Amino acid sequence: MRRPMVAGNWKMHGTRASVAELIEGLAAQVLPGNVDVAVIPSSLHIGQVVDGLQSGLIMVGAQDAAVQAEQGALTGEIAAVQLVDAGCKLVLVGHSERRLLLGESDQVLNRKFAAIQASGLTPVLCIGETLEQREAGQTLEVVGQQLDSVIKAFGIQAFVNAVVAYEPVWAIGTGLTATPEQAQDVHAAIRAQLAKEDSEVAQGVRLLYGGSVKAANAAELFSMPDIDGGLVGGASLNADEFGAICRAAGN
Ligand code: PGA
Repeated sequence: MRRPMVAGNWKMHGTRASVAELIEGLAAQVLPGNVDVAVIPSSLHIGQVVDGLQSGLIMVGAQDAAVQAEQGALTGEIAAVQLVDAGCKLVLVGHSERRLLLGESDQVLNRKFAAIQASGLTPVLCIGETLEQREAGQTLEVVGQQLDSVIKAFGIQAFVNAVVAYEPVWAIGTGLTATPEQAQDVHAAIRAQLAKEDSEVAQGVRLLYGGSVKAANAAELFSMPDIDGGLVGGASLNADEFGAICRAAGN
């Protein structure tokens, strides 16, 4: 049985004051004991969140890490070992906003993936197609290639300690959600691709859905056999809404 996971990606949101409020709201949530819950604040607020969430029930993650694991001369970047030191447990890699808006290539993402794992952190590899690609019938090809780039570089064993998030770009921040069936189809294809390499590893990997997940649609999405939880953007900025999504994953 895969343990469900719900991670809240706060993206480039928050001030010290709003983060303090969110921490307080999260601390008031009744969270299910059978779900891994994580929040992923901006790097600026990681320390505040780690210190503020004292219960230890919620993991803290980072939205990005440098291409090298160790500290060094790399202005503006944060090394994975520094994220470990700050109290992080997981790191997003390959979010579409970074692939598309910041031009991060598979090659750069692979270096980040490796640095994250080498430091003992769990990479959350984000993959997904654009609307144009979906309409052209290229969804499985695009997602398959993004996944294959990591499999080729590091082998299937790299997925023993990794999470994959399928996030159709057209569903991110748009209010449009993939239907549970659309999402399940892609998740099943991702798992099948991993299973071609090693079925045991494939059965163990958590596949999260992301793209306008909210309390109102979470239960239906999470009821699908290959959807093991969610990567939640906008809705994770509201503690009550996020708490409800976490509880949906626990049912
Ligand atoms: P959204 O973002 O929930 O606001 O659509 C999801 C994500 O980008 O991780």
